[in-house]
Amino acid sequence: MARLVSAEETKEDAFESSIRPDTIDEYIGQAELKENLNIFMKAAKIRGEALDHVLLYGPPGLGKTTMAYIIANEMGSNIKTTSGPAIEKSGDLAAVLSTLEPGDVLFIDEIHRIPRFIEEILYSAMEDFKLDIIVGTDASSRNITIDLPPFTLVGATTRAGDLTGPLRDRFGIVSKLNFYTEEELKQIVLRTSRVLKSPITEEAAIELAKRSRGTPRVANRLFKRVRDFALVMGDGNIDLDITKLALDKLKVDAFGLDATDYNLLNSIIEKFNGGPVGIDALASSIGEEASTIEDVYEPYLLQNGFLKRTSRGRMVTEKAYSYLKKGKQDALF
Ligand SMILES: Nc1ncnc2c1ncn2[C@@H]1O[C@H](COP(=O)(O)OP(=O)(O)OP(=O)(O)O)[C@@H](O)[C@H]1O
Ligand SMILES: [Mg+2]
Repeated sequence: MARLVSAEETKEDAFESSIRPDTIDEYIGQAELKENLNIFMKAAKIRGEALDHVLLYGPPGLGKTTMAYIIANEMGSNIKTTSGPAIEKSGDLAAVLSTLEPGDVLFIDEIHRIPRFIEEILYSAMEDFKLDIIVGTDASSRNITIDLPPFTLVGATTRAGDLTGPLRDRFGIVSKLNFYTEEELKQIVLRTSRVLKSPITEEAAIELAKRSRGTPRVANRLFKRVRDFALVMGDGNIDLDITKLALDKLKVDAFGLDATDYNLLNSIIEKFNGGPVGIDALASSIGEEASTIEDVYEPYLLQNGFLKRTSRGRMVTEKAYSYLKKGKQDALF
């Protein structure tokens, strides 16, 4: 049975939550989102109301879940969490909604994966704090309406485009999370170093930041690995040399591209003559899920001009050619 309110954590989750910032001041970067949220949260508190519903979208690992927990913490509320894939029947959603207490934050991760026929239950819950459900079966079935306490829905998705218009429109606050700058990632690395009490030099932190593809989760995971190298091969202090050595061993290049990025770009060049190539053909050629390419790999490659999307599919750019030092296969190209 799918878990609704997930208590279970993987090892990686436990690591992530141990280094997650708890307050909005500790949350690095995303200045615009923070500034707006601070105002909306203050206003809601002054009025004694629940914060308006918040939709956070953007690539994985940029801090959506973290921000959901921070919102609950800053509002002094409890957080209940579930996710789109865990909601299979309307009863699953009704069960979560009916546990809500006044001011609670309900966090729904991967909200784009809630089945369409269940989504409608969310509409009246979000708009009027009412839960409309059908009880009984066939002839004896009837509609009942249950009042819900005011609550804040925080939805997170890597795919805002997959949300229906009506659902999207019911969020008062909609915010896209952007890739982090090198300076912001450096701050995140230094913060993680303080929290974990593993010293790192400034230049090593900058190196990690450069290779973290704009993503705090990547920065923290690389930090963890580099820390292992420093412990076993050095004196535990993370300096530039050990950082470079570790990242090279992990096959993370100077720009943060890893083996899958290389595979993807090389495949477009070698098998599809630079593109354009459709996402499904590309996916099967490198043995990855199309959705993984779209959600995890592509955003960073697009943002940094290695890849472009055209109406006919993905193409590599000049920058990718020169970065990979590949000659063009077609002289007329
Ligand atoms: N702004 C930030 N400041 C400091 N650390 C951050 C920030 N954003 C994210 N992190 C760190 O990065 C890790 C990943 O963040 P989080 O789990 O919130 O990402 P996410 O956007 O929810 O990803 P996914 O789409 O995969 O669910 C967390 O462990 C957190 O410690
Ligand atoms: Mg998350």
